[in-house]
Amino acid sequence: AAPNGSPLKPIQIPALGLGTFEAAADDAGRCARAVSHALRTGYRHIDTAAAYGCEAEVGEGIRDSGIPRGDIFLCTKFWQQWHAPEDVARSLDESLARLQTSYVDLYLMHWPLAFERTDDYEIRTREDGKPVVNEELSSNHEPTWRAMEELVRRGKTRAIGVSNFNVEQLKKLLSFARIKPVCNQVEAHPWLPQKELLEFCRENDIAFVAYSPLGSQSGPKTMHTLTARLLEDETVVEVAHRLKTGPAQVLLAWAIQRGTVAIPKSSNPKRIDDNLKVIELGKKDFDLIDQITVRDPLKRNRLVNFDTVWGVNCFGDE
Ligand code: A2P
Repeated sequence: AAPNGSPLKPIQIPALGLGTFEAAADDAGRCARAVSHALRTGYRHIDTAAAYGCEAEVGEGIRDSGIPRGDIFLCTKFWQQWHAPEDVARSLDESLARLQTSYVDLYLMHWPLAFERTDDYEIRTREDGKPVVNEELSSNHEPTWRAMEELVRRGKTRAIGVSNFNVEQLKKLLSFARIKPVCNQVEAHPWLPQKELLEFCRENDIAFVAYSPLGSQSGPKTMHTLTARLLEDETVVEVAHRLKTGPAQVLLAWAIQRGTVAIPKSSNPKRIDDNLKVIELGKKDFDLIDQITVRDPLKRNRLVNFDTVWGVNCFGDE
């Protein structure tokens, strides 16, 4: 997708990327090795964020891989404390320094919800431990978006987009965007198919990027609504068994065949390789996976639930 009105040539997002959320929790150097390995294996899309704390390792991995920067689609995001227009540019400059590059391909507003500004990556909390929300910048994204548009004009990023936005928030954004958001990155997998949001993105030519496509179980314990694992879902396992492949391959095939971009995280070289071996599901198997929450509505769940981590409504859910 090309940002409307942008003088840049259209850019393409590779359908499969390497996620790096929680990669900082791995041993030192592991994220850099994962990124370098992934690029040498054939990945051309790396997803990271200032908040993940691993941008320096991502930069190291890119450099070590020997793959030319121009061949790589690199995405990063700015953190919630830095939604003020003057902070957005500063945040990207700091990310670029850590990533050892002069531009990113995609720069995302990580959350629709802005927290009160702090100079470091700490979140300022109230007495009850909940973050102090900046209501103004959370309810009106225009000032933040204008600052992001400026970064496209200055060549610091080739495209801009958002993450964790719902349909209502996207509609508002589209009403004032001079440079269109090229993507919305949200949690999506067979237990959270987000069909209405996907449909809206399709109609508006916004790429739908699925994070936690394998049903991530890493991260703070409070983040997880469920202890059940998507990789152990009986339908996913049954289809994988029949096709003589792994559950991850079935989940990624489903994600890609429905037209979304998937960014599975792995720091394990074998799993990094496996996740790139995209298989194709026949219609019957695709439908079996697609209908999991239709057959069993109780399975519908957000697995990466920051509402429970922060105690505030992060997703604008009713
Ligand atoms: P690891 O980094 O040790 O491979 P998600 O992308 O949905 O957030 O899922 C990421 C989690 O799934 C990580 O804990 C990752 O662990 C694990 N993972 C990644 N690829 C696979 C795979 N092919 N099979 C099983 N688990 C995987």
